[in-house]
Amino acid sequence: MDARTSRYHDVYAHWQRNPEVFWGEAAAAIDWYERPKKIFDRHAGIYGRWFTGGSCNTCYNAVDRHVAAGRGQQAALIYDSPVTNTVQSFTYGRLLSEVQLLGAMLRDFGVTKGDRVILYMPMVPEAVFGMLACARLGAIHSVVFGGFAAKELATRIDDAKPKVILSASCGLEGARVIPYKPLLDEAISLAQHKPATCLILQRPQCQAYLMEGRDHDWRKVWENAVNYAKTCECVPVAATDPLYILYTSGTTGIPKGVVRDNGGHMVALKWSMQNLYGVSPGEVWWSGSDVGWVVGHSYIVYAPLFHGCTSILYEGKPVGTPDAGAFWRVCSQHGVVALFTAPTAFRAIRKEDPDAKLLKQYDLSKFRTLFLAGERADPPTIQWAEEHLKVPVLDHWWQTETGWCIAGNPVGLGQLPVRYGSACVPMPGYAIDIVDEANKVQPANKIGSIVVKLPLPPGNFPTLWQQDDRFKESYLAEFPGYYKTADAGYKDDDGYVYVMSRTDDIINVAGHRLSTGGMEEVLAGHQDVAECAVLGIKDELKGEVPCGFIVLKAGVNRPHAEIEAEIVALVRDKIGPVAAFKLAITVARLPKTRSGKILRGTIKKIADGDVWQMPATIDDPAILDEIKGAMKEHGVG
Ligand code: COA
Ligand code: AMP
Repeated sequence: MDARTSRYHDVYAHWQRNPEVFWGEAAAAIDWYERPKKIFDRHAGIYGRWFTGGSCNTCYNAVDRHVAAGRGQQAALIYDSPVTNTVQSFTYGRLLSEVQLLGAMLRDFGVTKGDRVILYMPMVPEAVFGMLACARLGAIHSVVFGGFAAKELATRIDDAKPKVILSASCGLEGARVIPYKPLLDEAISLAQHKPATCLILQRPQCQAYLMEGRDHDWRKVWENAVNYAKTCECVPVAATDPLYILYTSGTTGIPKGVVRDNGGHMVALKWSMQNLYGVSPGEVWWSGSDVGWVVGHSYIVYAPLFHGCTSILYEGKPVGTPDAGAFWRVCSQHGVVALFTAPTAFRAIRKEDPDAKLLKQYDLSKFRTLFLAGERADPPTIQWAEEHLKVPVLDHWWQTETGWCIAGNPVGLGQLPVRYGSACVPMPGYAIDIVDEANKVQPANKIGSIVVKLPLPPGNFPTLWQQDDRFKESYLAEFPGYYKTADAGYKDDDGYVYVMSRTDDIINVAGHRLSTGGMEEVLAGHQDVAECAVLGIKDELKGEVPCGFIVLKAGVNRPHAEIEAEIVALVRDKIGPVAAFKLAITVARLPKTRSGKILRGTIKKIADGDVWQMPATIDDPAILDEIKGAMKEHGVG
């Protein structure tokens, strides 16, 4: 592991010298119906578009071409579900027939190129078939994570306006059965837009009620499609056509619809498998995420399949299904060579099995690399994993918007030395600067806003779904010439990137991205709340958890504990259990600056037990003592 023996610097310099040659070479690894007329067209789109004039199909590249090339008998997907006691392998050949059938089913429900299809699904193979079947038809999928509540789903239904929704009767959270259908029904009743069809996968753990006319039993429609030997061909789409919309938290309660295109997405993800992750076609790869998140889209479904790998679809948790050895069991049983997950999963494992005793029961001889992302990988977690797994443990940084890694350690090009706390170096395609508020580039080791020089590389979002202005305003306006990542950090003397915190109100709870602004909107909607602030406070397991401070309206004299419990239930009901909002604290007043801004940073420092100073601009210093007292009563700080 020596910086001089890695090919990284040469490859990055090759990209810098001529990005179009670089991405043109990478594009040769994709099968096109028509090759792109331009590798990059700077006059198209908002900041330019990749591979204009190219015609392709994402499902073809993920499935059909591997069957054509002789991989039909190789496992494409292994569904490993400790919560249902199932291990099921799908070869590329079988995957092809499943997506042909589901594509035909969707087509019979009227889905054609450009139509939207929402998936509100647990981690079952049908979710993957659904995404690929949409891609096959040129339809645009939008997967909504199962941990979101009906209202969040309704917002997405109204924005995406799907013709069809694919869902299931339930999800399984450890031993708990979570009925999905009541949430789906409520979401559709809340939404203005009404989908014509819902295809519901009835799982044995829970039978959902099906509404006559709108709802259809997935299995029955599938059997019918099998009986009539239905099939469908891949529909050619433009490289620049949308493949999917994935909603992510923005600074308000209205989520942002991140758009992914077909061509750039394939080129970037295919490139990443060998060069960044060092994985070869035919090898077994596991991304321990959920198809509802970007990591799940890119690295459970698309990238491993573009590359001809076997991808694991795991319906379980790192702990409790059945124990903290679950990850090692999966790696050993299926011969996983590389695992990609969030540090929080390893914190959970370490907490339950600090000496990694369970690890010793499994043969991990094939396992080569652990990749972490989704939140900052704290050095103790990395060191623990290194010590016990005895393989490189590599942090890398990326966002829903980028779709793949911004900075990482490219083992495929030759691993670079690990520096704890750093996500490592920029990938080809990303020119990263650290700037101050005036957009002035900062020297090494100085913290500032992390920005990426335009154009963004292939795979990154070209815009937000039907919101070009919001895209420009949110990401391009503040630092002209750059994409604003909304992360703050610095680069060291060797160009290693350190991502330290968000510059907006986004917090990261167990690797899940959430908006505190969105939660404040919910709290403010409670009848007794006059004022509120939600902030992320340190949590040993989840990294951060939200904590809400509420000031009650004058005259409210119900017990605080009662109101606080209502607030907790309200966030669960409006946003969902994924928010992990369990702590509401009633305070008499919120600390503010003289101009009326709530001093969130100071409250956070007190809650986290960090060193803090009395802000010079504070309106009334006594409020901080009141807040400290209230926190103590709730066991915080
Ligand atoms: N459907 C319905 N509910 C869900 C859900 C889903 N798909 N996923 C999570 N939830 C619920 C959980 O049951 C939990 O509910 P509860 O408050 O009733 O217990 C809540 O949402 C919070 O879930 P989570 O944050 O996952 O916490 P957890 O305590 O269940 O598990 C970890 C903690 C660390 C084990 C878990 O978060 C984990 O494995 N994280 C990995 C993160 C990850 O994959 N990130 C993706 C980016 S790489
Ligand atoms: P998401 O869009 O859900 O993938 O969340 C993206 C955000 O998660 C980033 O903007 C960062 O704030 C954070 N993040 C993801 N990966 C890392 C990492 N390796 N180090 C630090 N922060 C990270």
